[in-house]
Amino acid sequence: MAALLEQLAPSSSVRIGGLTRSFGERVVLDGVDLEIPPGQFVALLGHSGSGKSTLLRAIADLDHGASGSGELLAPERVSVVFQDSRLLPWRRVLDNVVLGARGKDDEGRNPVERGLAALAEVGLAGRERAWPSQLSGGEQQRAALARSLVWEPELLLADEPFGALDALTRIRMHTLLRELWERHRPSVLLVTHDVDEAVVLADRVLVLDGGRFSLDLTIGLDHPRSYRDPRLAEYREQLLSALGVDQDDNHPAKEATA
Ligand SMILES: Nc1ncnc2c1ncn2[C@@H]1O[C@H](COP(=O)(O)OP(=O)(O)OP(=O)(O)O)[C@@H](O)[C@H]1O
Ligand SMILES: [Mg+2]
Repeated sequence: MAALLEQLAPSSSVRIGGLTRSFGERVVLDGVDLEIPPGQFVALLGHSGSGKSTLLRAIADLDHGASGSGELLAPERVSVVFQDSRLLPWRRVLDNVVLGARGKDDEGRNPVERGLAALAEVGLAGRERAWPSQLSGGEQQRAALARSLVWEPELLLADEPFGALDALTRIRMHTLLRELWERHRPSVLLVTHDVDEAVVLADRVLVLDGGRFSLDLTIGLDHPRSYRDPRLAEYREQLLSALGVDQDDNHPAKEATA
């Protein structure tokens, strides 16, 4: 695949122009344009199969099975978090978190020092020597976030990172992710099926439909946001409408998810 992935100056972030991606005859991304300024928190919604993961993989340069064209510029340091933590079961938590990390950072910390600090940041201090199987699902995702922090990403790509968690754990993870963002300020592109997750966390929400963005919505509310804030309702309604979901329809398949 002839993806053009160049490095930008550290102050730049994602710039995509006319991006197409196809699998055989199936065109999944059909001329996507997207610019993410540094430090912006963006959520990406869309129906199953609309191409959200394809877009993320293209930005991460992980889409080797697809053909396509277009301009695609991303920062040098990109971290990716998936729905499952992808921790190696035969390595202890700290070893997983620092896997592949080398050298010292600007503060002179070696990878182990960075790993310990990252684990503390996600609330896993003291669990460094645990095996992944000894962590709960939520803790495994915390470890995955710690692993992404060790790389000090300018861009964090997250593909339904909380999709497999129960509702309460998910809300706690939202708070954690937002706190980490406040501290480190990477650009974020968060794929989710959860409209509430998108409006509570993101400053901008995109809806992918038919290979392009059908909505690009700025959420102009301060943080921290509460799920109970009535001002979220208007944004929620716009997003559900773009996703083709009728709010009055209580059919289980049409709850507030894409
Ligand atoms: N490696 C592949 N080979 C062939 N087709 C693929 C491949 N990866 C994705 N596709 C197809 O591309 C389309 C978009 O897939 P993608 O995984 O990007 O969707 P998605 O929006 O992430 O969906 P979901 O919400 O279910 O995760 C789907 O029709 C899928 O079948
Ligand atoms: Mg997907």
